[in-house]
Amino acid sequence: MRKPLVVGNWKLNGRLAENKNRILALAEAVKNITQVEVGLCLPYVYLFQAQQLLANTGMLWGAQNVSQFVQGAYTACISAEMLAEFGCHLVIVGHSERRHYTAENSQKAVIRIQRAVDAGITPIYCIGETQAEHAAGVAKKVIAAQLSALLGLDELSLQKIFALGLVVAYEPVWAIGTGQAAIPAFVQEMHVFIRRLLAQYDSHFAANVRIIYGGSVSLDNAQSLFAMPDVDGALVGRASLNVDTFAGICAIASQQAVVQSHV
Ligand code: PGA
Repeated sequence: MRKPLVVGNWKLNGRLAENKNRILALAEAVKNITQVEVGLCLPYVYLFQAQQLLANTGMLWGAQNVSQFVQGAYTACISAEMLAEFGCHLVIVGHSERRHYTAENSQKAVIRIQRAVDAGITPIYCIGETQAEHAAGVAKKVIAAQLSALLGLDELSLQKIFALGLVVAYEPVWAIGTGQAAIPAFVQEMHVFIRRLLAQYDSHFAANVRIIYGGSVSLDNAQSLFAMPDVDGALVGRASLNVDTFAGICAIASQQAVVQSHV
């Protein structure tokens, strides 16, 4: 049984004072949700705040990226060891906004995944097709290429990554920040496709890996998305900035987890 994971991605948002209220209110709002893991990925400068405020809560927290370098002359980079020193649990890797605005690609993302895992941090590997790729009907081809960068690693590296609970986030780029989430049946089809690709490496791992969906998740669509058997949670951008909305999405994931455990 895969425990759902709902992670808020704050992106480039936040200020010390408002974060404090938001983080504390969220921790309070989700404190009785035990069927779902709830996490937050914040800008680097606020990790210390998250570390302080979320200690002794059940919530997970982490960063939105990590360097592929270990140390040295890499101005502005933050290493996995640094994140681990803070106690980060999670790190987002390969987000489409990084792929779009910086020179991120799957090969670099996979190195970042390895760095994270070496430091004991669970990576959330984001994959997904653009609008043009979707329209051209090559979504699965794109996903397969993004995953093959990972599955091309050597056996030992893969074992380590899977043992640390790699999370895959399927985020169709055209659904991110647009208010137009992908329809649940399509998401289910893509998640099954992803799971099958992972199963070519290891069927046991594939059955246990959490594949979460991201792209305009909201209170309105959470129920129908989480009702899909292969949707193991969500990566939530805009809606995670509102405590009631985000806590509501977590509560829906929790109710759905209870329903599915009785199926
Ligand atoms: P969104 O962002 O929920 O605002 O669409 C999701 C994401 O980018 O992870």
